[in-house]
Amino acid sequence: MNTTIITGTSRGIGLELVRQYLNVGKHVVASHRPGSISAELAAMSATHPELSLLPLDLACDQSIAKFSHALHSHSIELLINNAGTTNHVEYGQWTRRHFLDSYTTNAAGPALLIQALDQQLCEAAKIVQLSSGLASLHENINPTGAFEEYAMSKVALNMLTRRLAMKLAGRNIIVSAISPGWVQTEMGGPDAPTSAEAVSQQILQSINKLSIQHNGTFLEADLTPIAW
Ligand SMILES: NC(=O)c1ccc[n+]([C@@H]2O[C@H](COP(=O)([O-])OP(=O)(O)OC[C@H]3O[C@@H](n4cnc5c(N)ncnc54)[C@H](OP(=O)(O)O)[C@@H]3O)[C@@H](O)[C@H]2O)c1
Repeated sequence: MNTTIITGTSRGIGLELVRQYLNVGKHVVASHRPGSISAELAAMSATHPELSLLPLDLACDQSIAKFSHALHSHSIELLINNAGTTNHVEYGQWTRRHFLDSYTTNAAGPALLIQALDQQLCEAAKIVQLSSGLASLHENINPTGAFEEYAMSKVALNMLTRRLAMKLAGRNIIVSAISPGWVQTEMGGPDAPTSAEAVSQQILQSINKLSIQHNGTFLEADLTPIAW
C-alpha cells in the first residue's frame, strides 16, 4: 500500500493538506510534534482509519529516527515537508539561537528526514518542500520586515531541493519546492488573502500535475516558476 506523508499537521496548511488527501482516498501518515495533537487532527483520526498519526520533532535526530523506523514497511509515494517555523525577530534583537532554530527545523530537518526515509521512497515518488516567496533572492520580498532567519532557512531548503533533485533523479523521484503564498494560519496571520483550505486544494492539484520537468524547481502553488 502506498503512503502519503505530511509533516506539521496539527494546524494550518498541514492540517488542511491532511483533509484534502483523505478526501481523495489516500492513506496518510500525518506528523505532529510529540505531545501536541490538536483537537482537529485527533477528530480527523477518529473518523478516518486510513489516517495514522505519528510524533515527529524535526529539531530532534532521535525523533526523526523513531519516525522513520515506524514507517519501515511503508512505500512512500509522496512526502510533503510542510512543517516549518519562524521567530519573526527584528533587526537589533537577533540572536544566534533564532537563526539556528529556523535552520534546524526548516532546512536540516527536511534534509535528515528525507535521508532517513530514503529506503521507503517508491520509484517515481514525489517530495514537496513547502518553501516561501521570501526565499527568492531575485524578488527579495519585504527586506525591511523581520524575516531574515526564516528567509535564510528557506533559501537553504531550496538549495536542498535542487541538489536532491539531481541525487534522486536516477530513481525518477521528483523533488520540488512550492511556495503557498501568504496564507491565513498562525504563521501567516489573519490578514493573509488566502485560506489554508483553498491553498491546500490548489497544492494537491498541482502535486498531481508534477512531472519530471518540475524536478528541482521553485514554484508557486499553481506551478508558476519562481525566480531563485
Ligand atoms: N502561512 C503562510 O503565509 C506561509 C507562507 C509561506 C510559506 N509557508 C510555509 O508553509 C508551511 C506551513 O505553514 P503554516 O502557515 O501552516 O504554519 P503554522 O500554522 O505555523 O504550522 C506549522 C506547523 O509546523 C509544525 N512544526 C513547527 N516546528 C516543528 C518541528 N520542529 N518539528 C515538527 N513540526 C514542527 C507546527 O507544529 P506545532 O503545532 O506543534 O507547533 C505546526 O503544525 C511552513 O513550512 C511555512 O514556512 C507559510
